[in-house]
Amino acid sequence: MKALVLCGGKGTRLRPLTYTLPKQLVPVANRPILHYVMDQIAGVGIEEVGVIIAPETGEYIKEALYLNPWGFHFTFILQEEPKGLAHAVKVAQGFLGDEPFLMYLGDNLIGETIVPFVEEFRAGDADAMILLKEVEDSRMFGVAEVDEGGRVRRLVEKPKEPPSNLALVGIYLFSAVIHDAISRIKPSWRGELEITDAIQQLLQEGRGVKSYVLKGWWLDTGKKDDLLAANQVVLDEWVKREVKGEVDAESRLSGRVSLAEGAQVIRSVVRGPAVVGQRTKIVDAFIGPYTSIGADCIIEGSAVEYTVILDGTRISGVGRLEDSVIGKGATVCVGAGNRGALRLMVGDDSEVIL
Ligand code: G1P
Repeated sequence: MKALVLCGGKGTRLRPLTYTLPKQLVPVANRPILHYVMDQIAGVGIEEVGVIIAPETGEYIKEALYLNPWGFHFTFILQEEPKGLAHAVKVAQGFLGDEPFLMYLGDNLIGETIVPFVEEFRAGDADAMILLKEVEDSRMFGVAEVDEGGRVRRLVEKPKEPPSNLALVGIYLFSAVIHDAISRIKPSWRGELEITDAIQQLLQEGRGVKSYVLKGWWLDTGKKDDLLAANQVVLDEWVKREVKGEVDAESRLSGRVSLAEGAQVIRSVVRGPAVVGQRTKIVDAFIGPYTSIGADCIIEGSAVEYTVILDGTRISGVGRLEDSVIGKGATVCVGAGNRGALRLMVGDDSEVIL
């Protein structure tokens, strides 16, 4: 079995972060989402991984995978234009050949292993298997109608009146018959070749399409709040206490704090779960739980909690910063007065002076 990881798309829902960063590389607990995707693929024993890249962001994706700790054999496949998920499969047909494959959207983060999902597909004879998740409002997703036995009856992409609240998580398994189905579909109203329509095509031909409902959380890097929620869950579940940086005698780290090499904590308190990236300096500050701070940041004279801060950012004199996402190279510093709590989503290289 091969894997096909999709790293195209524009990431409009996470703007402004995604103006300068592909959505697949948005960090959660200081690791790009794409790395969690690769962990999942490695976990099911796949070695051949095709990565669909876009002309605008392809180089960033390649760079993020360059170290390849998973030992994959990567094939990068350029999709010139974002013409849909099924179009991406078409572009990758040469790489995929006749093998069954796992297709994974590179910006999807889920809180449980895909091993049982993949094993059920390997053991059975279905031509497709989809991962579903119950959501409050399914209208912005692909939506499935499923019978009691988990057999999929019908699929619709972004329906105005959804037949259920079961959304298609961007993780799919296919046999090679999907290529034929794709060759028979037409672009949707949004001008894309939808994989949802190709699976619906399989259903109409009487092929077996199974589903698996995810019980844990799912982050479809939707918006700021989803990103913060994912950061919280990942810090809660996966971060271990690991102190490689320096902590002076007047500082205290409590709980699970991961402090990377070259980071410095001076006259400050860091309360985990939290991660602090390489060479970041924390001075006269309080870092509260569920905070991820990237590399090369300076946090001084500030209290920061439940926040994601990307690389190269400076936070200074801010009384209390919470529920915030701060992009790369941003500066947030207090000019005068305002000591109240702040709630921000600041784009890359922005400057906020309060
Ligand atoms: C795509 C799929 C949709 C799926 C979603 C999950 O939507 O078309 O069926 O529910 O990913 O992230 P898009 O992100 O292209 O709007």
